[in-house]
Amino acid sequence: MAATTYVGKSTRRVDGRAKVTGEAKYAAEYNTPGLTYGYVISSDVAKGKITKIDASNALALDGVLQVFTHENAPRPAYFDRPFKDQDSVGGSPFRPLYSDEIKFSMQPIGLVVADSFEVARYAASLIKVEYKAEEPVTNLRAKPKGHKAKSGKTGFVPPKDRGKPDKAFKNADVQVEAEYFHMPEHHNPMEMFASTVVMEEDGKLKIYDKTQGAVNSHTYVTKVFGLSKDDVRVMNQFVGGGFGSGLRPQYQLYLAVMAALELKRSVRVVLTRQQMFSFGHRPGTLQTISLGASSDGMLQAVKHEALAETSQFEEYTETVVNWSGMLYHCDNVKLGYYLRNLDLYTPLDMRAPGAVTGIGAFEVAIDELAYKVGIDPLEFRLKNYAETNEFEGKPFSSKELRACYAQGAARFGWAKRNPKPRSTREGTKLIGWGVATGMWDAQQQKSAAKANLSIDGKLVVGSSTADIGTGTYTAMSLIAAETLGLPLDDVTFKLGDTTLPEAPLEGGSWTVASVGSAVKEACQAVAEKVFKLAKDVKGSPLSGASFDEVEFVEGKVQLKGDYSSGVSIVEAMRQGKVNFIEEETTTLPNMLKQMQYARNTHSAVFVEVEVDEDLGQICVRRVVSAIAGGRVISPKTARSQIIGGVVWGISMALHEESVLDHHYGRFMNHNLAEYHVSVNADIHDIDVIFVEEHDDIVNPLGAKGLGEIGIVGTAAAVCNAIYHATGKRVRELPITLDKLL
Ligand code: MOS
Repeated sequence: MAATTYVGKSTRRVDGRAKVTGEAKYAAEYNTPGLTYGYVISSDVAKGKITKIDASNALALDGVLQVFTHENAPRPAYFDRPFKDQDSVGGSPFRPLYSDEIKFSMQPIGLVVADSFEVARYAASLIKVEYKAEEPVTNLRAKPKGHKAKSGKTGFVPPKDRGKPDKAFKNADVQVEAEYFHMPEHHNPMEMFASTVVMEEDGKLKIYDKTQGAVNSHTYVTKVFGLSKDDVRVMNQFVGGGFGSGLRPQYQLYLAVMAALELKRSVRVVLTRQQMFSFGHRPGTLQTISLGASSDGMLQAVKHEALAETSQFEEYTETVVNWSGMLYHCDNVKLGYYLRNLDLYTPLDMRAPGAVTGIGAFEVAIDELAYKVGIDPLEFRLKNYAETNEFEGKPFSSKELRACYAQGAARFGWAKRNPKPRSTREGTKLIGWGVATGMWDAQQQKSAAKANLSIDGKLVVGSSTADIGTGTYTAMSLIAAETLGLPLDDVTFKLGDTTLPEAPLEGGSWTVASVGSAVKEACQAVAEKVFKLAKDVKGSPLSGASFDEVEFVEGKVQLKGDYSSGVSIVEAMRQGKVNFIEEETTTLPNMLKQMQYARNTHSAVFVEVEVDEDLGQICVRRVVSAIAGGRVISPKTARSQIIGGVVWGISMALHEESVLDHHYGRFMNHNLAEYHVSVNADIHDIDVIFVEEHDDIVNPLGAKGLGEIGIVGTAAAVCNAIYHATGKRVRELPITLDKLL
């Protein structure tokens, strides 16, 4: 159809103004008359039983409406038939206020509801709780082995051995074998987790929830509380970051709805930053990687085993080791994935779950192997390039990773690299360059969208997807504007509302591919109707044309490339006496076609660090991240996604240190003062390259998704650069300065 007018051209964020002026409202910012405020009481112990809760002092306070605990809270039917949300895992989901049992530190054990937040918070401090505490087990490393993962999401099960990995490793000319470890990481989106439940006059609930999926929260609330679909509406029009933490309904949603139904009042519950460290996190993993290569640098054996944590009640799984069977060509591969139950909350997907940690360790091991063989680490990767996805046994739908290596290396200046570690210095600073590969999925999910074109030429498109800062509003507006050839200002995209057509969770980097395809299809259906009207316009130059022969440009439908044949969309609707055209579509992936291919994004990350020889301080001076992610729809927000991922990769490599006190079973530094994330002063040059990649398999747009690939490989490239700078190989994240001294 139409020539490219918008897609692939940089534009401002269509929601930018609303976000910077405060016009955009978040879950905890919606007010309603008679609103009450809930404050969550968190357990002081990580394991054991509550023996006594005395809330009398709290209940005696003016303004306190109720204190809910396991002793008096309602017991919805779901307590005995646990509901599984769209991102749930094997096992039994956590049910707030279910019993006296404590399964993790800071478990919510009560909710105070008062007529102001301050009173609720103060009242919570007066509640006396007694426990019979038990010693928690929270140390992943205390015992070497876990159990084989049994259930959980598809994709976690590592494939069977390929070739003869043990023998190939033993006989390899060059071997490396090492253990890698990283602690949990915490999502920390800027917006606090919050739910404002508005009890409407007819008893229906309007819920403003901080979530990556309004539909997921909606289904959760209706199923858990036995409400009908029409009694609940969930909205999340703006979300202040997610990173995966909003993929599952969080406990504040349950508590706010429970209290609203019990008290027949509107209730808001906001978690504190400390409490946000008490739910899902990126799990810590302990990994062992053994690699073998021939003396000329051909990879001959890959063995990768990971031990990851899960809670006592659910089995969270990730594809930590799977990537090691597809990043490079190798005939002999052995992968193992084990879990250990700890007295912590169930881990939760965090940006590129599994890939960040698995590829993170593997790409360091590959670097070690390249050094041991004596080949440049980039050359080693090119030498062992995987032409097909050997894990899935399929060709790639597209894979322009070679272009990533080439363009990234050229931009970075890799050819000038002195291969010797500790060979470059500027005064007291050691300079190092490192490279790593990244890989992620390119998925498409079933999505629906609705497009409404009115006679004033304004187009409104909607889908119940989310924009967690990723640029959904902008990307969808661009797709819609282009499909109907309308000025961007005449297009409004609506999301974050369960009254709109159903969309999947915003996660997995699939939103543009999935919702974008639905938006395109809905707009195309409108375009076909417009075309019919345009053909019927008196003396229409399009009367003999077919839909394939026309394009939509600047508010007109015209024969391709023939400006003089244009019929105005508004005029066609006016003459056809049509006030609006509305089309709703549900778009499914073409599985038959897609299943024949492995569909992945790739990246090459180049990093320059300087390390202070005396103090061990590390600074990441430059990053070049070259991405093969298919067609780029919205360059500005796409670039921002990659930059955000790179920043987080640096943060993971150097700053984010979660400290678990194994006696208390608690994350001790559960605040942003002590849990460090990279800040502005830590971040310097980040250069993003999108290489050309054409793909007509992945989805009708050819876009692969960019939300996650930016973080994959970045931490490994930082580690590798630190080795090159210092000659010191660190296999435990974060690389704090003490590890270099
Ligand atoms: Mo992402 S971890 O699928 O929000």
